Amino acid sequence: MDESIGRSNESNGECVVKEGKADILRLPFVFYNRVQEFNRDFSVLAINTFLKNELWKNGVKPNKWIKDEMTILDALSATGLRSIRYALECNESVLPLKIFANDVSKKAIETIDKNIERNGVSDRVVSNQEDAALFMVKNRNVKQRFSIIDLDPYGSASPFLDSAVQALAEGGLLMITCTDMAVLCGNHSEVCHAKYGSIALRSKSCHEMALRIILRSVESHANRYGRYIVPLLSLSIDFYVRIFLQIYTSPHEVKRSARHSESEYNFNPTAPKVDRKCEHCGSTYHMGGPIWSDPIHSSQFINQLQKQLSDFNEQDFKTHKRMHGMLQVLSEELVDCPLYYSLDRLCRVVQCSMPSMKTFRSALLNGGFQVSYSHASKTSVKTNAPNAYIWDVMREIEKLKDKHSLAEECPGYQIISKESTHVVSLETHENAEPMSKEMQLLRYQVNPEPNWGPQSLPSKAGDKRLLNQGKRGRPKDGDEPHNDSKKMHNS
Ligand SMILES: C[S@@+](CC[C@H](N)C(=O)[O-])C[C@H]1O[C@@H](n2cnc3c(N)ncnc32)[C@H](O)[C@@H]1O
Repeated sequence: MDESIGRSNESNGECVVKEGKADILRLPFVFYNRVQEFNRDFSVLAINTFLKNELWKNGVKPNKWIKDEMTILDALSATGLRSIRYALECNESVLPLKIFANDVSKKAIETIDKNIERNGVSDRVVSNQEDAALFMVKNRNVKQRFSIIDLDPYGSASPFLDSAVQALAEGGLLMITCTDMAVLCGNHSEVCHAKYGSIALRSKSCHEMALRIILRSVESHANRYGRYIVPLLSLSIDFYVRIFLQIYTSPHEVKRSARHSESEYNFNPTAPKVDRKCEHCGSTYHMGGPIWSDPIHSSQFINQLQKQLSDFNEQDFKTHKRMHGMLQVLSEELVDCPLYYSLDRLCRVVQCSMPSMKTFRSALLNGGFQVSYSHASKTSVKTNAPNAYIWDVMREIEKLKDKHSLAEECPGYQIISKESTHVVSLETHENAEPMSKEMQLLRYQVNPEPNWGPQSLPSKAGDKRLLNQGKRGRPKDGDEPHNDSKKMHNS
């Protein structure tokens, strides 16, 4: 039984949720997903890091920053859990904190108000019932802008991006969650284009591409108001993405915006990034993007997050171990190599069995290239090696096979039939294993719990198990009430 959740009133489905320093009531019809605790823990850490290092001051003229208080807008607050955690756990501010817990739903506001009182944070947290986009636009005036905005919607954050880029103070922190991964990962390219202005490609590196599509979309909204973005951290987690970025104003930087994005030529099935024509296998290209092509993380911010995390333990953050592992992988990630190859995919193209990651990474390092994992996939290979070298490595690996049975019409056959242009060594390289692996950290989370994923949309029908009068088994003591109603695929 998860001790963080207790049932306080069975008849109306109310329950108590303990997370971080918050202790909140969750009423029926109000959204809560406990698997997103990692998202909330990370956000607490990011805000504290932002505040402690006074990151808003970077490049901002002193008189441009509003100095009397720090305001946080939790724009889609549901139970108010984030707002309350920020009020109780973000202690690094030199300025007083004021937090707005906004939600459009009346039930959510009732819950938020109860939770504000329950946690004794009424001096710092105020509730507001309004459409988030409208509330942000109303506060776009320079003097009213928020220092930090958190967007955590159902599915896509795209309806809120335009107002958020207007309502954020100079150098402020924008935190965005999107859970519409099917759209962002290329299952519905037209929808992706409509929402984010980019075509997503269904490729192995689609999770990083999703991050880059969102970043470019936010940049494009910001540019309309003479503003530009500086990405701090971009995470692909479980079934969603979470992005942390800053926004500044500069007409000069806005003019240079086109340099931060590019289109992708990708063919099926092969590497994430190729030249104009595929000289290797002759397959037709799929074109995707535009995507953000500059770094998606700031190494300095990752470093600051690591330092900040070392002040906390598993008592403070239940997901401490995972944060520690992920930050180490992020610190090792090559920042100048957009997207990544996937070793299993490369092997499938030339139809050979998968060598160890150590062997493949060694081959790249032996050729004088850089290599890293991406935090988004455990079979990922980020590298600055050109495609020609990658296929030379694959030819070398394929040679180890006893039987060569590729059909002539396969792209892999075209690749294997060509002569290599580089000498490749598969000898083990001393730096082939990353530090995060040697330290045996939790680098890639397995499923956090059974049936994890996007939560059901709270419905008026309420908890079906209660409505079914226990015919399909009553909830066990301590179970979180959730309804089995129509699964919202992108919530
Ligand atoms: C995914 S939940 C938020 C979860 C919450 N941030 C957390 O960490 O537990 C999305 C919330 O957004 C609210 N919402 C949906 N559309 C909205 C809008 N246009 N303006 C404000 N709130 C909205 C819903 O009522 C719901 O409570």
